[in-house]
Amino acid sequence: MAENKRSSKGFVLWLTGLSGSGKSTIAEGLYQKLDAIGVGYERLDGDVLRGVFPNTGFSKEARDEHIRRVGFMASRLEHHGVVVIASFISPYREARQFVRNLCSNFVEVYVKASIDECTRRDVKGLYKKALAGEIKEFTGIDDPYEEPENPEIVVDTINQTVDESVSQIMDAIKQYL
Ligand code: ADX
Repeated sequence: MAENKRSSKGFVLWLTGLSGSGKSTIAEGLYQKLDAIGVGYERLDGDVLRGVFPNTGFSKEARDEHIRRVGFMASRLEHHGVVVIASFISPYREARQFVRNLCSNFVEVYVKASIDECTRRDVKGLYKKALAGEIKEFTGIDDPYEEPENPEIVVDTINQTVDESVSQIMDAIKQYL
């Protein structure tokens, strides 16, 4: 290992939450912090992975299969000592639990923002389309989001700044770094 790289234990940091809740923004903040302290990591981002598996749909079956697939990848990486930062809506508890069971060190982060707030932010303009019926099976509008029951971390992106959420997560994962 290069001298300026710290050795870290593999773990999977799994960000789950509604579209527009702040998963990618927080992941970006985490990458910067990890870069600053010389910890390498692999990013598994929902939008990017859907580009890699372009035929993945949004039915419960399609989402669950996708989450099992990327979760398996995450667990293999973790097994080889990689720090994995995964951000997926991953709306179903059972699929998240499936991934948790595959991993040795699974840290679930609920990136929490209400549906009203995400609709107000509407960063990608998708809520507007979903409310107009132009997009079907949209999480939080005509498709469910099952809140985590016992996540390791909850970040409240309505009442916290991005920096506060990132620091909260960094603090919680320091045992692995
Ligand atoms: S997941 O449910 O399978 O975990 P994933 O995180 O991969 O979702 O992808 C979500 C992204 O797909 C959203 O950020 C949004 O940009 C886009 N998207 C397109 N259609 C939908 C939809 N029906 N529901 C949710 N997200 C959608």
